[in-house]
Amino acid sequence: MIKPTILSGIQPTGNLHIGNYLGALKNIINLQNSGEYDMYIFIPDLHSLTGSRTANERREIIAILAVEFLAAGLDPEKVTFFAQSHVPEHAELGWIFNCITPIAELERMTQYKDKAQQQEKNINAGLFTYPALMAADILLYHATQVPVGEDQIQHVELTRDIARWFNNRYPSANHPEGYFAEPKVLLTDLPKVKSLLEPTKKMSKSKGEGHVIELADEPDVIERKLKKAVTASEGGIGAPGVENLLLLLKNFGNAELYRQFSAAEKDGSIRYGDLKIEVAHSISEYFVDFREKRKELLARPNEIKNILSTGAEKARIVANKTMNDVRKLVGIS
Ligand code: TRP
Repeated sequence: MIKPTILSGIQPTGNLHIGNYLGALKNIINLQNSGEYDMYIFIPDLHSLTGSRTANERREIIAILAVEFLAAGLDPEKVTFFAQSHVPEHAELGWIFNCITPIAELERMTQYKDKAQQQEKNINAGLFTYPALMAADILLYHATQVPVGEDQIQHVELTRDIARWFNNRYPSANHPEGYFAEPKVLLTDLPKVKSLLEPTKKMSKSKGEGHVIELADEPDVIERKLKKAVTASEGGIGAPGVENLLLLLKNFGNAELYRQFSAAEKDGSIRYGDLKIEVAHSISEYFVDFREKRKELLARPNEIKNILSTGAEKARIVANKTMNDVRKLVGIS
């Protein structure tokens, strides 16, 4: 049986937080363990060059991301796990896609507009053509399912357009329906974790350390951050901060506790201090193994390097084949 191909990448941003975990990583690991897919998971290090980090910062966050994926349960025996830059075909196909993508379409991308605002002094061409490289990431492996968050849907739609533009411009005798199949977003209803201090906004590290709980946080840190979490300053049932803590209890704690606190919230007997302690305890417990494994792996950088280079070798077999076809189709081979 041929399994559908899934591809996804998570931008390296330093230590992963519980919003990244429930919103992406956990889902990827579940998909891996279902055994139903042929999976490619990669670290988009070429994409990270569009940001403003120094070389050392970049090296550091890439290493941490690899370690944290593995510590969270990503299994390099089950998925092809690699760094984008180790497979130069990404950049090559990205260039070819740049040459068929109208500027006007890239100008519509909301992530570009947001990022251009965030990094006013560094609005580079790479930031602008980022979606063409992302299309290359996906189509290089003929992935048909792309598990991403809402902010990436527009990019996957553009990838479908790019596949179509390519197919129309470069017809393939061997693939009368078009060389590239159009990929789809694999949408799963994932919990949306909010910031501890601004619970109407998405949990995000850019606001500051106190807004997030990192998977690597030690129990005392988790407790301290949760103590400061905003609850129901204006009172009343359904306050965003309280809902957020209940969501965390539901995902990290046991079902009975969650039931008790939900009921207490509804009848007004809830004590936020107790809720915070239970949430802190549940999260600390949930990531015990993760923290252990992370420390072990951080001490073995060569092993991480080997895992990524084995992954890149596997990926290159497919990437190479696609590029041989593509070079012929566009007339450069
Ligand atoms: N753009 C994605 C993000 O910002 C990361 C990414 C790069 C990606 N290439 C991809 C995700 C291909 C899925 C498929 O998170």
